[in-house]
Amino acid sequence: MQSTKKIIITGGAGFIGSHVVRRFVKNYPQYTIINLDKLTYAGNLANLKDIENEPNYSFVKGDIVDIQFINTFFEEQQPDAIIHLAAESHVDRSISNPLEFVMTNVVGTVNLLNAAKNLWKGDFENKRFYHVSTDEVYGTLGEDGMFTENTAYDPHSPYSASKAGSDHFVRAYHDTYGLNTVISNCSNNYGSFHFPEKLIPLAINNIKQNKPVPVYGKGENIRDWLWVEDHARAIDVIFHKAAAGSTYNIGGHNEWKNIDLIKLLSSILDNKLGRDEGESAKLITYVTDRAGHDLRYAIDASKLKNELGWEPSITFEQGLEKTVDWYLANEKWLDDVTSGHYQDYYNEQYTNR
Ligand code: NAD
Ligand code: DAU
Repeated sequence: MQSTKKIIITGGAGFIGSHVVRRFVKNYPQYTIINLDKLTYAGNLANLKDIENEPNYSFVKGDIVDIQFINTFFEEQQPDAIIHLAAESHVDRSISNPLEFVMTNVVGTVNLLNAAKNLWKGDFENKRFYHVSTDEVYGTLGEDGMFTENTAYDPHSPYSASKAGSDHFVRAYHDTYGLNTVISNCSNNYGSFHFPEKLIPLAINNIKQNKPVPVYGKGENIRDWLWVEDHARAIDVIFHKAAAGSTYNIGGHNEWKNIDLIKLLSSILDNKLGRDEGESAKLITYVTDRAGHDLRYAIDASKLKNELGWEPSITFEQGLEKTVDWYLANEKWLDDVTSGHYQDYYNEQYTNR
């Protein structure tokens, strides 16, 4: 893919998308990067302030569900590649409103696949459709084992079902039409610009404000955490080196029980905020569990390591400390995204839970 010239990155104003856009704009000045994003509650152009005036970057506001818009946009832009991250991404919201997830994650993805297929008309030389997906498509693990690229799909939430559906469509377009597709399935990301509906930034924000930190169930669910910039680097490597039709798992080899993670975060924040050790942990509040809550995710990323040489670059302790520092230094960003509709969402999810 070295000769690729024009890349559309969908969802580039979101958490992971903004890191991917930044990496590609900075590392590949010879590429033209177009960020296509609807700017839902999760999209925020403040995430891209530092690169907004770069000559190889532009932003277009648009909805991937709008078929007319997408077809015209592809005709006008003539992209060589798509890196598709636009999605509804939050499991709790998918439980409240599953249809939104079907529309963006399934219909939106199929609209993009069709637009790419129609534009490239069977000539897929130096073309690429890269679909960014999740380990949640594999369902849940018990105490042992890890997800590999061969694990059968077994999604449980409306979110993971919609991502599984979109993965199947991407593979179908490779197998049926020969589209040059790649999929990666990644574990839980954390880092800067993470919207505070997700566990880590929500807990940082609440601890900072001395508010209760809601832990679902007994806090025994396990997630495999990866620093978002390591995910962006994996996407870069896979985009450039993977074979057409291939799939890679991406993960941190970094499993944490939610309650242990929140205790670690509390202790880091005690230190940074000058509180007595143990003070922030007193905010931990056990609340009603998430419906259909997957017990454990763990990724076997050895295919990516062995074939393409990727490994995580920092430890969880280092990454978490960087992340806490970022949130403490970016108070305005946090205040802006937690005002307005966020308060309604928060009350809906957590009041009397
Ligand atoms: P996010 O919710 O932070 O951002 C999603 C972005 O997509 C936002 O900028 C939003 O405005 C945009 N968007 C939503 N609907 C759209 C539409 N209809 N048209 C155009 N743009 C639209 O999500 P994220 O956490 O950055 O996740 C990005 C991708 O990575 C998703 O596909 C998600 O499934 C996948 N993923 C996320 C994680 C994670 O831990 N966050 C892990 C693995 C995979
Ligand atoms: O595994 C990859 C997935 O990780 C991505 O595909 C999703 O887009 C992303 O949102 C994330 O999903 P999770 O549901 O694992 O992330 P979340 O931050 O919502 O929750 C992490 C764990 O913490 C999970 O076990 C639920 C729990 N939790 C979450 C919230 C928001 C709590 O205990 N309390 C909370 O308030």
